[in-house]
Amino acid sequence: MQRRDFVLGAIGTGALSYLTPALAAMAAGGEPIPYGTCIRNDPLFEDPAYRKAVLEYCKVVVSEGSLKWGDLRPDRHTFTFEQADRLMTFAEEHGLEMRGHTLAWYGAMPDWTNEIASPEEARLELTTHIRSVVGRYKGRIKSWDVVNEPLSDFPKPGDLIRESIWQKHLGADYIELALRTAHEADPDVQLVINDYDIEQATDRGRARRKALLDLLRDLIDRGVPLHALGIQGHLKGDIPIDKSGLTSFVAEVKAMGLAILVTELDVIDDALPGPEAERDAAVAACARDFLDAIGAAARPERVLTWGITDQHTWVPIWFSRQDGLPNRPLPLDADFKPKPLMDVIQEFTHSFS
Ligand code: G3I
Repeated sequence: MQRRDFVLGAIGTGALSYLTPALAAMAAGGEPIPYGTCIRNDPLFEDPAYRKAVLEYCKVVVSEGSLKWGDLRPDRHTFTFEQADRLMTFAEEHGLEMRGHTLAWYGAMPDWTNEIASPEEARLELTTHIRSVVGRYKGRIKSWDVVNEPLSDFPKPGDLIRESIWQKHLGADYIELALRTAHEADPDVQLVINDYDIEQATDRGRARRKALLDLLRDLIDRGVPLHALGIQGHLKGDIPIDKSGLTSFVAEVKAMGLAILVTELDVIDDALPGPEAERDAAVAACARDFLDAIGAAARPERVLTWGITDQHTWVPIWFSRQDGLPNRPLPLDADFKPKPLMDVIQEFTHSFS
């Protein structure tokens, strides 16, 4: 029985008053929140099982790497769009939406950008890049992570914005410059600021939420074009979600007129128990706390995980397990079998009308 049929059955028996708001919304039969994943081109084009999983579950894709500076810009004068174009074409052929990630970040920068030596040069390189990349996919990529991870690791007065080549030469103004340039390149594109570690019940989590709210409010007060906040959601399975703190945070962002997207959800499981069933349950519970806390204040426009199968995930690069067991941070296991995390995502995305 489909979940909605079950809900409708409950209504038929007069049980409507017992439905939670989410189930009542589902009963109303609205469109689910589009779900998607970041994509690695190699498995997409070489592994039929990976491709099948993407097509079965996803409405949205985003490249894990091919639109980053490191992949696009081997040197100052060259743009290599082949891999990004390949994914764009695949998305269009299969009726999938493709998001853009990312235009201004500290990470994945090619070495030649260290030669940038002045504010004028930084301004020229950043704007040329954004005009070229957003312009190329104008009307096709409708939502861009324009600025990725602008916050310092642990924001403190005087240290709010993370070091990057752009911050070094332009200060925090690089954020406004990137947003305005992307807006000029495609006035219809959704402009997103995307960041992580804002959900934790820790001093650092609270400091990051406050710094992010201050940043967003300042941009909006000054009329800088900005449409949405991307909450990445690289959750640490062993650190509790600050449910009320996250709900209040999302409510404040929404009150500024910004949309919310969940852009990179996964659950880092290096410090969770080894046995698979126990670990998968803890991963799912953590994601449920996170999504429910967001959903209590806003309907996120999209929910994306940072990968769909445990076979292809960035997590072991930084968070491999001491017991040597493979990480299990994603909704499908390494054999493409759905895990409890997939149930949580499907239930959540179907819970809004
Ligand atoms: O290209 C080489 C390849 O030739 C080699 O075989 C392979 C061996 O490990 O490394 C490949 O490059 C790696 C690349 O991922 C491709 O998987 C890089 O070393 C590695 O640094 C790169 O990491 C990516 C990272 O961003 C930096 O761009 C991760 O895949 C990607 O998942 C991660 O994504 C970030 C988001 O953009 C922003 N939010 C956090 C998220 C996770 O860190």
